[in-house]
Amino acid sequence: MATDRQKVVIAVFLSVSFLFYSFYLYFSMPFKGYIKDQEACDGKMVWQHYNCNACHQIYGLGGYLGPDLTNEYSLKGKDVINAFLISGTSTMPVFHMSEKEMNDLVAFLKDVDRTGSADPRTFTIYPNGTIEQ
Ligand code: HEC
Repeated sequence: MATDRQKVVIAVFLSVSFLFYSFYLYFSMPFKGYIKDQEACDGKMVWQHYNCNACHQIYGLGGYLGPDLTNEYSLKGKDVINAFLISGTSTMPVFHMSEKEMNDLVAFLKDVDRTGSADPRTFTIYPNGTIEQ
């Protein structure tokens, strides 16, 4: 049975550990100095509005009817993305988007392409739960 004094020591130890780990994680964030691009932000809203994630993955997460689009921008480019949005396919609906929505969406996919790669199986996972590509 722990004495009151031991309980206090354990509580202080846990609190200090928590604070230390929180500060460590906060200051080692990989996206420090990230520049916000308004078009890409708007594009994220378009992505959410049309629920592209229901069928597509980003960074390997999402629905599995369509392919992962994390690196679509560098692999296929703006014109292919626009072509799919305008024409659809037998399995992908046409969304009848405005010109601005399509441009914003491309900016979002460009940003996603810049910030990650699609295959999480190639990532290194560290014991503290963070990953590196
Ligand atoms: C109902 C499911 C569904 C939704 C919702 C959907 N897609 Fe698709 N998408 C697909 C499927 C399936 C394919 C593969 C079609 C094919 O190759 O015939 C595809 C293909 C694509 C491709 C071409 C991928 C490639 O390189 O072959 C792009 C780009 C794309 N979708 C973008 C989007 C965007 C952006 C949205 C949201 C506005 C969206 N899709 C919403 C199902 C969907």
